Amino acid sequence: MSKDDKNKVQTTGHEWDGIQELNNPLPRWWVWIFYACIVWGVGYMVAYPAIPLVNKATPGLLGFSTRANVAADIEKFKAMNGEIEAQLASADLTALEPGSDLYSFGMNYGNATFAAFCSQCHGSGAAGAKGYPNLLDNDWLWGGDIETIAYSIRHGVRNTEDEDNAHYSEMPAFGDDYLEDEDIANVVAYVMELSGLEGAEGDLEAGAVVFEENCASCHMEDGTGDRGQGAPNLTDAIWLYGSSAEEITHSVETGPFGVMPAWGLNASFVGGADEQTVTAKINAVALYVHQLGGGE
Ligand code: HEC
Ligand code: HEC
Repeated sequence: MSKDDKNKVQTTGHEWDGIQELNNPLPRWWVWIFYACIVWGVGYMVAYPAIPLVNKATPGLLGFSTRANVAADIEKFKAMNGEIEAQLASADLTALEPGSDLYSFGMNYGNATFAAFCSQCHGSGAAGAKGYPNLLDNDWLWGGDIETIAYSIRHGVRNTEDEDNAHYSEMPAFGDDYLEDEDIANVVAYVMELSGLEGAEGDLEAGAVVFEENCASCHMEDGTGDRGQGAPNLTDAIWLYGSSAEEITHSVETGPFGVMPAWGLNASFVGGADEQTVTAKINAVALYVHQLGGGE
């Protein structure tokens, strides 16, 4: 090594085409920060979880764990809500006063529960979609008083998990050899006539006979439906499976079979492992659905 004459700095002795590589010392401030970082790093490793092992990491002297913090937060939250949740779980839903603390708690809880567990089928605004009923209107398949709504939520519809309690009924698929194409065309025309829809071609009188013989047992003589069987009203403007001639023909040919999960059994209600939480959630969401506009 020699000194670069001009700047009095050590050179490394490397030289290419007359260009020398200088050996400037690192600035002191930089070196001190560097050492401080090493000391801090070692301290951190000792104090906090740091070195990955097979299933976990070295725990660190302070015993810090984000997982434990979350668990503690959840416990705190549960303890805070435990009492009012217990009240909601055992409340008589028909007697809850709008405006009371319990009612407001139920509404907020129900709104959040709906967003998390129901909106994927019923829509975030509960307006439904084809095959998934609108819960905002007063057209109910199974019933719109709060106890029936809570029952529908707890046990669901046509599911196999809660087979003994779920609402059940089955519209036959009339396209499977039950009715001739002509009878189907006629009854579709008749059904459309019932709610003043246009676009079907068929003999209305013959359709009325087909309806009387094959449909009235569930949809009633006048077509207004039967909630005991979840058979929709066919005389209104609300159609679960569509109101065009093709869609109604499809419904008659295939027999729709809407399935709704049983939330009373559904462990996927997060935090729903215990009976009280499940009941509180069902009551809350029933309250919420009931007040959306169509509750009876
Ligand atoms: C996987 C889709 C799905 C999810 C998730 C779902 N539902 Fe449903 N729900 C349905 C279907 C389909 C029907 C209609 C069943 C039928 O055709 O009778 C229904 C029917 C209902 C009914 C009866 C409506 C009536 O007219 O009688 C209520 C009340 C209801 N759902 C509330 C809820 C609530 C509250 C949640 C969330 C906890 C929820 N649903 C989650 C699919 C779903
Ligand atoms: C055993 C009872 C039963 C009989 C018989 C029956 N239905 Fe249904 N029907 C239902 C039920 C239940 C539903 C609703 C299914 C669902 O929600 O998934 C339904 C749905 C429908 C729908 C769809 C309504 C909508 O809102 O989209 C049409 C249309 C319909 N039925 C027409 C008929 C016609 C026409 C006949 C006679 C040829 C008939 N049904 C016979 C029970 C019955």
